[in-house]
Amino acid sequence: MSVSILVGSQWGDEGKGKVVDILSEKFEIVARYQGGANAGHTVQIGDKQYILHLIPSGILRENVICVIGNGVVIDPKALLDEIEILEKNNIKVSGRLFISQNAHLIMPYHKLLDQINESGSNKIGTTGRGIGPCYIDKYARKGIKIVDLLHRDTLENKIRMNLQEKNNLLKKVYDKEELDVEEIIKEYTEFDKKIDQYIKDVPVYLNNSIAEGKSVLLEGAQGALLDVDHGTYPFVTSSSPTSGGACTGTGIPPTKINEVIGIVKAYTTRVGNGPFPTELLDEEGEKLRKIGAEYGATTGRPRRCGWFDAFLVKYSCMINGIDYVAITKLDVLDTFDEIKVCLGYQENGKMLKSFPTDVHQFDKIEPVYETLPGWKQNINKAKTYDELPEATKNYLEFISSTAGFKIKIISVGPKRDETILLD
Ligand code: GDP
Ligand code: IMO
Ligand code: MG
Repeated sequence: MSVSILVGSQWGDEGKGKVVDILSEKFEIVARYQGGANAGHTVQIGDKQYILHLIPSGILRENVICVIGNGVVIDPKALLDEIEILEKNNIKVSGRLFISQNAHLIMPYHKLLDQINESGSNKIGTTGRGIGPCYIDKYARKGIKIVDLLHRDTLENKIRMNLQEKNNLLKKVYDKEELDVEEIIKEYTEFDKKIDQYIKDVPVYLNNSIAEGKSVLLEGAQGALLDVDHGTYPFVTSSSPTSGGACTGTGIPPTKINEVIGIVKAYTTRVGNGPFPTELLDEEGEKLRKIGAEYGATTGRPRRCGWFDAFLVKYSCMINGIDYVAITKLDVLDTFDEIKVCLGYQENGKMLKSFPTDVHQFDKIEPVYETLPGWKQNINKAKTYDELPEATKNYLEFISSTAGFKIKIISVGPKRDETILLD
């Protein structure tokens, strides 16, 4: 019996999908707690690759029940498309997926406003999925929830009220065409029949399941440094991917959480704008991108790549309360002669004591590196820690002692069997 939170510990795309798939062999329930279809979680089973955006990555294990918590923002069309793709691949979703009645809906105007915001000068480099504008409406208490799909009159009224405001904004502020309210009402009133069967009182379901001794894995999306409170604001997403968000995003109280698992990529990547002290803008960065296939699972954008940042991961361990980590994509470093690890940042010749939380500070800092020898051989066939080359073990020991984490899982390839489990 356990309730575990799995968090991305850097800027997202750490390999959460693969690790959730591995761990969910031993969990009965997997639940997403924040974000939306901005996430792209890849699971590779044999030669088949699945990219999950809204549905928890546990869906690929037939005995696992999947839950979408109240903290998630749902684009109904994206959800139905994802269900259809899974069912076409003979993965049963009906009866295995529950959605919180309190999750908020992404509406067409959220996506449009996201795109309009991104066309201005304050570009964040969002995924364009309407995430920010949807959370704005949620916190402004104007949002439309999954449960509203079941009440046609309320739904229609809420859409009309929102459209009045949004159309004003589109026309008067942004000089854009107004959206057709009737069309949106028609589209959204048709979702009830398709989504009804999945709707559940999720906090009650999860807490009862925990009381019955069932194990629950809470799957975070994005990563700690994209957290709206603890990340590199304003270059963040609009939700709380850190472990604290798992409680508010599902209705499971903090006293029921048994452990926090961090997913840590063996180097660093980031998509979109914002500070990235260890970014490599040279051929080594290109090499990481090429070998690591670092292109967005949702948008296809090339990911920015750089060396492992132990200072950043140390901060992430602190704000998430990480008990142990899964190191992923270690095999991507196989061919490097030398590998650098960032120990901390220097400002005016002095080492910073803690990770900067003021984004302006990043303009003034210089990363300080330690250089380690590469191992120059393939490690993706290794099944135990002892089978790894000495230089690989040294690298792992160096990053774990510098960032202050314990490693329990090592991923050496995208497939299920390319995984080393430590005691
Ligand atoms: P997520 O958003 O954290 O689930 O990560 P993504 O799915 O966006 O990106 C991770 C990518 O790395 C996917 O293409 C995975 O198939 C792949 N991947 C995961 N673990 C490993 C690994 O250990 N080695 C390699 N080479 N690829 C991996
Ligand atoms: P997974 O779950 C990496 C980034 C975007 C942008 C910022 C805000 O696959 O790790 P948003 O659309 O959320 O308003 O964009 O956050 N971003 C991600 N980066 N992985 C993700 O998800 C991301 N989801 C959002 O690139 O910089
Ligand atoms: Mg991803």
